[in-house]
Amino acid sequence: LVEAAMESIAAAQSLSELDEVRVQYLGKKGKLKDLQAQLKSLSPEEKREFGKTLNTIKQSIQTGLTEKKTQLEEKENSGPDLEAIDVTLPGVRALPGCRHPLMTTMDEVKSILIGLGFRYDDYPEVETEFFNFDALNTPDWHPARDMHDSFYTTKGNVLRTHTSAFQTRAMKNFGPPPLRAMTSGRCYRRDEIDASHFPIFHQLDVIAIDENISFADLKWVLYQLASSLFGKDVQLRFRPSYFPFTTPSAEVDVMFNGKWLEILGAGMIRPEVLEAGGVDSEKWQGFAFGLGLDRMAMIRHGITDIRLMYENEEAFLRQF
Ligand code: PHE
Repeated sequence: LVEAAMESIAAAQSLSELDEVRVQYLGKKGKLKDLQAQLKSLSPEEKREFGKTLNTIKQSIQTGLTEKKTQLEEKENSGPDLEAIDVTLPGVRALPGCRHPLMTTMDEVKSILIGLGFRYDDYPEVETEFFNFDALNTPDWHPARDMHDSFYTTKGNVLRTHTSAFQTRAMKNFGPPPLRAMTSGRCYRRDEIDASHFPIFHQLDVIAIDENISFADLKWVLYQLASSLFGKDVQLRFRPSYFPFTTPSAEVDVMFNGKWLEILGAGMIRPEVLEAGGVDSEKWQGFAFGLGLDRMAMIRHGITDIRLMYENEEAFLRQF
């Protein structure tokens, strides 16, 4: 019996086949039960002998079953049979990374302006209140300085609330005009997060200071920039506006898909600001503008929720 059982065990190809063998020998109606039934008809002496034999048989079969079970389990868990891999199938290509739409937009705007003679430099994201506000004619009673709008770090320092903070730094850095300069990067404001607000956003700020700079020069640069980005027939709309550091000031909209969309703030640099940057305001004039890069990227790619720009979801990023 043990031999027959061992053969069946060895022949089993799967766990379910093995279980059939177990039932056949050790089950309620199995072969071992048949033998046990014979016990009744034996003398006490013979019973003891035969009982012992039955136990050994049972144990042998049990051991056989357990060993085979481990074998089969290992086989089933050991993954694909290497021999079975079809080496002629095409492989899975490693997907290359792709650039964030914000970065491509930023680089494009930058390179257009470099082409127009503006220099590019990075400036600190942790800025002094002086450069972020005071130097830009934004006194400490101004609502923009309220704790609700700015992230303060250490005393006297803020996470820059706009890239305009670079303006008087650049004037000081580069000495007397003429000066054509820009910067771009992260800005921070305390905002409730929704589809169009996020506490981090990106701006690009530009200044031009020279003799006889006028609002017409500003318009010319903006049309150059806009037509490079949106095509030759681009339409811009200038709306009178207010910024503490420019006068006159304007907000500028671009016509896109039949709608006016606000993309930047601009104006002629106020004398107070020139003076704060060490520039003689009797002699020099300048214009400045600041562009919202997140909006720009969203407009160009038809993105409707700013949060998507910061979640870095692969499915979103792969589209660009
Ligand atoms: N800094 C302004 C803003 O964040 C934009 C601006 C830049 C306006 C330069 C005028 C000149 O809204």
